[in-house]
Amino acid sequence: MEEIEALLSQAADFQQATGRPFVTLSYAQSLDGCIAARRGQPLALSGPQSLAMTHRLRAAHQAILVGIGTLLADDPQLTVRLAEGPQPQPVIVDSHLRFPPEARLLRNHPRSPWIATRQGADPVRQQTLEGRGARILRLPANAASQVCLAALLEELGASGITSLMVEGGAGVITSFLREGLVDLLVLTISPVLVGGFHAVSRLGEPDTAHFPRLSPVHCKQLDEDVILWGKLAE
Ligand SMILES: NC(=O)c1ccc[n+]([C@@H]2O[C@H](COP(=O)([O-])OP(=O)(O)OC[C@H]3O[C@@H](n4cnc5c(N)ncnc54)[C@H](OP(=O)(O)O)[C@@H]3O)[C@@H](O)[C@H]2O)c1
Repeated sequence: MEEIEALLSQAADFQQATGRPFVTLSYAQSLDGCIAARRGQPLALSGPQSLAMTHRLRAAHQAILVGIGTLLADDPQLTVRLAEGPQPQPVIVDSHLRFPPEARLLRNHPRSPWIATRQGADPVRQQTLEGRGARILRLPANAASQVCLAALLEELGASGITSLMVEGGAGVITSFLREGLVDLLVLTISPVLVGGFHAVSRLGEPDTAHFPRLSPVHCKQLDEDVILWGKLAE
């Protein structure tokens, strides 16, 4: 964690230079690369020490992002509870404002969520969510009619966010990797085989020269889990 925190201490310089926050992708997977048994079903994979590490990582970032699929599946709190430190700003990508007004993030989170959506999203839903305290960010759509992540990162940078932790799920993990928007990966690997829903799907044309790769790679065992981390090679 000290080495990762040292990297993150340079996030403000990174944001100054690039206009976008430093992005850490962090999630827990099984030995066979699954993050859930089935899409939409939460699955606890991390052991106690890895969970505490994840919460410390959350506290070291200014914002934390998940997709609407994860919000609907897990109703996550996205708070720092198992470590000391500040609460990161929750950000949800949600092209159609499917965000349920009764979600925990709108009830008992210390910071109201920012919901990134497309220009054409329903204004009535926007009003309802704003009435509950959410901030709606209207952004251009990408070719798949989802939120354009590069535009979102630019918007977060302009709002003063210098570091962003992306926690999932699979759709979001794949998009960030495919678009080359991940700077650091911190992966918890749990010693179990699930045969279920994989974290990463197609990243583009198969071309081994351009597969995202960690360099250098670091490894640490926490309880029975292995933490693999490193910067994404340029
Ligand atoms: N093990 C772990 O660490 C971990 C962490 C998180 C989640 N999970 C699991 O992952 C599963 C959810 O994964 P998921 O793939 O269904 O959902 P997800 O990645 O959380 O959300 C995907 C949704 O986000 C929206 N979105 C908006 N812009 C996007 C963009 N540019 N790229 C990608 N998505 C965008 C899309 O819905 P719209 O088109 O409606 O906007 C898309 O369907 C759950 O089972 C959850 O428990 C596991």
